[in-house]
Amino acid sequence: MAIDQRALRNALGQFPTGVTVVTADPEGYAPFGVTANSFASVSLDPPLVLWSLQKSSDTFDAFAAAKHFAINILSDQQQDISNQYAKKSSHDLDTEHYQLGVSDMPLLNGAIASFECEVDVCHDGGDHIIMVGKVIAMNSLDSDNAPSPLVFHAGQYRELKV
Ligand SMILES: Cc1cc2nc3c(=O)[nH]c(=O)nc-3n(C[C@H](O)[C@H](O)[C@H](O)COP(=O)(O)O)c2cc1C
Repeated sequence: MAIDQRALRNALGQFPTGVTVVTADPEGYAPFGVTANSFASVSLDPPLVLWSLQKSSDTFDAFAAAKHFAINILSDQQQDISNQYAKKSSHDLDTEHYQLGVSDMPLLNGAIASFECEVDVCHDGGDHIIMVGKVIAMNSLDSDNAPSPLVFHAGQYRELKV
């Protein structure tokens, strides 16, 4: 049975996710970021995470050149940041949006948590490439004081109701 792409996208969109900006700064490129909700935890020991990147992305070559990347989990105060780095050809990071982490990865100011990763392995994933990273450093706001995460569901940003 052929799967209708639009129906598949709509059905997959029923799974609510957080929103991240994945940042990197490989040699020969300016620090850049792309909004992604495909982030997932994989393993605690060793500490592995993954996300997937469209092969058609303007950032594909830059990520292919990257030995490191950082996952930045956005708060509900950062919808504008999510929109900015989700725009076609709008991936260079504004200097006021980040500072460097312990492994010199650009980390977004105001993120609820950031994971600095070394690229562990990349798998082919159809029209995406699945990037698995080994976490080498992390920052996380204390959950009592942290703002709520930005949530994405059915093609829209949502408020997390607790
Ligand atoms: C909430 C949200 C989640 C997204 N998640 C992903 C993702 O996981 N992987 C991906 O490649 N693009 C994702 N995108 C799309 C990219 O952020 C961006 O729109 C796209 O890469 C723009 O094209 P370009 O990369 O060629 O400039 C997402 C966009 C939004 C708004």
